[in-house]
Amino acid sequence: MDEAGARVLVAAAREAAANAHAPYSRFAVGAALLLTDGTVVPGCNFENASYGLSLCAETVAVAAANAAGRLRDVVAVAVVGGRITGAGLAGDAAVYPCGRCRQVLNEAADMGGRELVLFCASGDGTVLRRHTLSELLPHAFGPADLGVR
Ligand code: THU
Repeated sequence: MDEAGARVLVAAAREAAANAHAPYSRFAVGAALLLTDGTVVPGCNFENASYGLSLCAETVAVAAANAAGRLRDVVAVAVVGGRITGAGLAGDAAVYPCGRCRQVLNEAADMGGRELVLFCASGDGTVLRRHTLSELLPHAFGPADLGVR
């Protein structure tokens, strides 16, 4: 995917971040999955008053793709996050998926039989980094370890 395509996917992630339910951390994260046919599946973090039950944006997006029967069709992922301010998201550091989300993304990658491309952006829009999931989660534990395809 070229830089323009990456920016479109990051824009979708930023739009999703606007729906974050993050009254406790005040840190909004949006994710956008690009599927094989161009469909974009959004996700945003969904916190809970019982803090430990909170769900990350990437995990919400992957679960939504799965619910739509599209777990095997994910090709790229954009993530953006930052502190919630009156003027949008603040922060000049790219937001990367947490460890659990990397493992959840690996399930989609493995089921689809393809490497995932990740675009990680900062809340203020100044930083955009491209990675593969394998770079972020080397030697991943996956279905093959359980004898599954
Ligand atoms: N968060 C995500 O949504 N994705 C990540 O990969 C890292 C963290 C959320 C969880 C919590 O709602 C907030 O960011 C602060 O940790």
